[in-house]
Order: sequence, then structure tokens, then C-alpha cells
Amino acid sequence: MSEAGMRGADADARGVRGRRVVVAGATSESGVAVCAALAAAGAAVVGVGSNGERLDALAERVPGALTEVCDLSDSAAVDALAQRLTSTGPVDGLVHLVGGWVGGRGITGQTDDGWAAMERAFRTLRNTTRSFYPALVASEAGRVAFVSSTAVDRPTASGADYAAGKAASESWLRSVAAGFAADQAAGDAAAGARARPALRSAVAIFVVLALVDDRMRAASPEKTFAGYTEVSDLAASVVGLWDEPATSLNGRRIRL
Ligand SMILES: NC(=O)c1ccc[n+]([C@@H]2O[C@H](COP(=O)([O-])OP(=O)(O)OC[C@H]3O[C@@H](n4cnc5c(N)ncnc54)[C@H](OP(=O)(O)O)[C@@H]3O)[C@@H](O)[C@H]2O)c1
Repeated sequence: MSEAGMRGADADARGVRGRRVVVAGATSESGVAVCAALAAAGAAVVGVGSNGERLDALAERVPGALTEVCDLSDSAAVDALAQRLTSTGPVDGLVHLVGGWVGGRGITGQTDDGWAAMERAFRTLRNTTRSFYPALVASEAGRVAFVSSTAVDRPTASGADYAAGKAASESWLRSVAAGFAADQAAGDAAAGARARPALRSAVAIFVVLALVDDRMRAASPEKTFAGYTEVSDLAASVVGLWDEPATSLNGRRIRL
């Protein structure tokens, strides 16, 4: 099939327009940039965070974005959130941005507190992808996006906990990608569907060295931030996920 044909058959011409996208961990500068780009492209955005005041600030900066307070490390709370949102419409996208960085001096400097923070961040990813999974499988163009780190490819002793947490997240997401492939094919076979593409939902893992935004540049004008990824570029890449066929996207690591 031609590229245009695949695009028409899968991602369909409207891209992200009209899709409903949940941004989990939406109040950092990267979250604001992603929410703003999605809203500008015509998506219905639901920004989720654990802090109501920061979510209010997000809503002010991204008019039209809805917000939800939820501790994403609490699986029962995430189940309730997913139930609440899916009862009022489809969910076509999950952009998971909860992260954080931990480090210590060498292997012996890796602390239990540091690992607990990474495990908690991993848990938020596991919770959101698990709770929203049925909606994402049901979507005509489901997309999951996550931001990983170059540390997974080149781990250091001082960043061992961080790299291990990100590696676990990537592994989990490859399982979600396998789930999409298996469940959409099985569902279509059961329904006898022929007209739809076999894979409609996809996972994308963005890989960055570090993120930079206008506030960081303004605070340190002497720094070049070489190798950093602009949050606006991350945001544009998230929007572009709906322009690519799920078949070529699912499970891919994309270096930004
Ligand atoms: N920044 C970098 O240089 C860099 C480098 C490599 C990879 N990354 C990855 O890129 C992604 C975005 O990074 P970032 O630095 O912009 O954001 P971040 O500091 O990792 O946090 C993102 C958001 O997560 C929310 N959050 C934290 N715990 C939560 C919880 N339990 N429930 C709900 N929300 C929670 C925070 O909001 P509230 O506190 O308001 O809840 C915040 O808005 C992360 O996955 C990060 O690991 C970043």
C-alpha cells in the first residue's frame, strides 16, 4: 500500500483534530507545551496532575484544557479517573509525562529513597496505561507517548536508579505495544471486521538527553543547552503521532 493509502486507512486525514487526549503529569513546562500544541491542533485536552493550584495555572495558560486532580501513583484513583473520563466519551491518547530525576555517587550512593521515587514514577505509568488501555484499544487512533532518556542506552553508575527506572518503563511500554497488536487483531477477527486496518493504536517512546524551555533559557542566558530538546519540539512530535500509521509507530523509540 502507498504511504498516502496507509495514512488514509489508518491515521485518517484529521490527525489529532477531534481526538480526546489525556496528558498525565501536565503541569511542568513540557506538559504545558504539549497541552497547548494539542489544543491548537484541535484536540480535546484533559490535563492531569496531583496539585490543584498548578492545574489551575495550566488551565489559565491553555484555554479550553480541562483538568483533573489525581495522584497517579494510586491505582484505585487512576481506575476511578479512567472510568469517569471514559463514561463521557472516548479517550484517543495518553501522553505520560510524570518523571523526575534521581542520582547519587556511584553504585553505593544509590539510595532507597531515590529508588522509591523511580518506582513511584514507574507505577504512575503502569497505572495510567493499564486503566486507560481498554479505551485506547477501542479508539480508532489510540496513541500512548512517553519520554525516556538517553541514560537507558548509556547508563552511568551515578544514574543507576534513574536508568533502571526508565528501562523498566520502556519494557512495560513494549508490552503495551504488544497488547495493542494482539488485542486489536483478535477483536477484529471476532467481529469479522475487514474494512479497518489491523492496528489502529500505537505506543511511541521519545528519547531525550534533557528538556529545555523558555524559562530555563531566560534564567541562564549564558548556557547553550547543547543536545537538549525544546519542549516545543517534543509537543510538535506528540501532535504528529496522529499523522503516522500505527503500524509504523507501535513500540518505536524515537530520538528527539
Ligand atoms: N526534564 C528533563 O530534562 C528530562 C530528561 C529526560 C527525560 N525526561 C522525561 O520527560 C518527562 C517530562 O519531564 P518534566 O521534567 O517536564 O516533568 P516532571 O518534572 O518529570 O513532572 C511532570 C509532572 O508530573 C506530575 N506528577 C508528579 N507526580 C505525580 C503524581 N503522583 N500524580 C500526578 N501527577 C504527578 C507533576 O505535577 P504535580 O506535581 O503538579 O502533580 C509534573 O507536572 C518525564 O517523563 C521525564 O522523566 C525529562
